[in-house]
Amino acid sequence: MSLTIHNASSANALFLEAASDFLRLLDVTLEHKPHFDVALSGGSTAKEFFRILAHTASGHRNIERIRFFFSDERVVPLANVDSNAGSALRLLLEPLSIDVSNFFPMYDGTRSAELSASSYENLLRNSLANDNSGLPVFDLIYLGLGQDGHTASLFPHSHLIRNIDNDKRLVVVTSEPHIAYERITLMPRLINNSKNICIMATGESKAKVVDNIINGPLMPESLPAQLVLRNVSGQVTLMTAKMGDVLKIT
Ligand code: 6PG
Repeated sequence: MSLTIHNASSANALFLEAASDFLRLLDVTLEHKPHFDVALSGGSTAKEFFRILAHTASGHRNIERIRFFFSDERVVPLANVDSNAGSALRLLLEPLSIDVSNFFPMYDGTRSAELSASSYENLLRNSLANDNSGLPVFDLIYLGLGQDGHTASLFPHSHLIRNIDNDKRLVVVTSEPHIAYERITLMPRLINNSKNICIMATGESKAKVVDNIINGPLMPESLPAQLVLRNVSGQVTLMTAKMGDVLKIT
C-alpha cells in the first residue's frame, strides 16, 4: 500500500505524534474487532516512546482491550534492564495499570530461546486474526532502526538474513558474535503482513543510513530494514526526528 515519511521537529514531538496516532488507531480498530493487537519494539527509542505513551494514554477508555506482543527480544530475564518486554512492562503497562493477561513477552526465562520462539509463533497463529493465507495479522507493529540498517533483530550479513528467502518460520532465534545477547525476532513475512507498521528513528547518527535505506540501491542483506521499508505491502510510516538535512524526503 504506501510508505509515509514523517520528519518531526524534535524527538519529543515525534513521540507525542506517535502516541496520538496510536490512540486514534486503537479506537478505530476496536470499532470492528475485540482487541487491538500491537507488537512493541525495543531499544532506547522505544523506551522514550513508552514513557510518553504511558502519559498520553492515561485514562483512555480502551486501553484494557490492547494486547501487547513484541517485534523482537533479547534472550535475558524480564527483570534485566535490557529486556524489551521487561522495559515495556515497567515503563508502559505498569504505569497504566494494564493487566498482565494482555502482556505476551517473547522470552521470560522459563524456557529455552528455541522453544520460546516456536511457542510464540504458535501463540500468534492461535491468538491473532489470520489472513486468507493463514498468516497472523497484527493491527500495528512498532520497529526501531539501528545505525547499521537493522530493524527488529534482523541484522546485516547475518546467517538469518542470508537465508531469509528459504526460511518459512515466522519467529526465529538469531545470534551474531558482535551482537549483544541471543535474540528472538519476528520475520519480515510476518512483519509486512501487519495492517500498520511504524518505524521510529531519531538523531543525526541515523540520518545517513535512513537515507540509504529509503533512497539508495536495494540491498537488503546489507540494510535489512529495506525488507520492510522498501516492501510497503502494508501501511508503513517512518517517523524521524533530529535528522538534520541529510535525509532527503522525496
Ligand atoms: C532491539 C531492537 C532494535 C532497536 C534498534 C534501535 O531489541 O534492540 O528491537 O531493533 O529497535 O536497534 O535501537 P535504539 O532505539 O536504542 O537506537
